[in-house]
Amino acid sequence: MLNIALDGPVGAGKSTVADEVARRLGILHLDTGAMYRACGLEAARLADIQDEAAVSRLCEEGKLQVTVTYTDGVQHTFVGGRDVTGLIRTQEAGTAASCVSRYPAVRRMLVSAQQALAQTMPMLIDGRDIGTVVLKNAPVKVYLTAAPEARARRRLAQLQEKGEAPDFEAILAEVNARDWQDMHREADPLRCADDAVVVDSSDMTFEQTVEAILTLAKAAE
Ligand code: DC
Repeated sequence: MLNIALDGPVGAGKSTVADEVARRLGILHLDTGAMYRACGLEAARLADIQDEAAVSRLCEEGKLQVTVTYTDGVQHTFVGGRDVTGLIRTQEAGTAASCVSRYPAVRRMLVSAQQALAQTMPMLIDGRDIGTVVLKNAPVKVYLTAAPEARARRRLAQLQEKGEAPDFEAILAEVNARDWQDMHREADPLRCADDAVVVDSSDMTFEQTVEAILTLAKAAE
């Protein structure tokens, strides 16, 4: 099964790069961040997300089960039976995801859902722990990164395109804070798998990044 594990810090462009690589390879892209976001949002609706015991109980009761479906190759993410695809791209969902993704009960639940999906078809799976936990035996593992300044600059450009006027230093501080949190949590922290290939996209265009990953995928076929 040609499963591709793609990990890396926030803002490295994983999601858009993964979409394009998967499209060109004719396989599906599983965005696991979307699953943590859906879970975080639902947890926040039902409990205090700072309360690990309460969130873990919700997991045991099956109330935070996340499922995904695909329509024309586009992922739809469901939690508690509701399609939350349109709700998970907010700052609030990102913060909730970052909080609940620290809890082992949440990780166990979502990791097994991701492993079950990966067994059914070849997929490109992006996240933080794919090469190290979810798909330890993936034939292709990529760690996509970029310097914090480059990631903050891209985020700035995205927000400016939306008509916002954000402050670069504030965005850079946010990028660094998210890195710290993702890399220092106890449960499955973000790290580069020993057998992953590092792609540093700081000075690469989108197309060059896509090509670099396609080359690695084709070499493994
Ligand atoms: O990639 P993203 O911003 O959509 O991820 C949202 C949060 O979920 C982020 O704080 C890290 C967490 N996450 C995780 O812990 N493990 C994954 N496989 C994917 C995301």
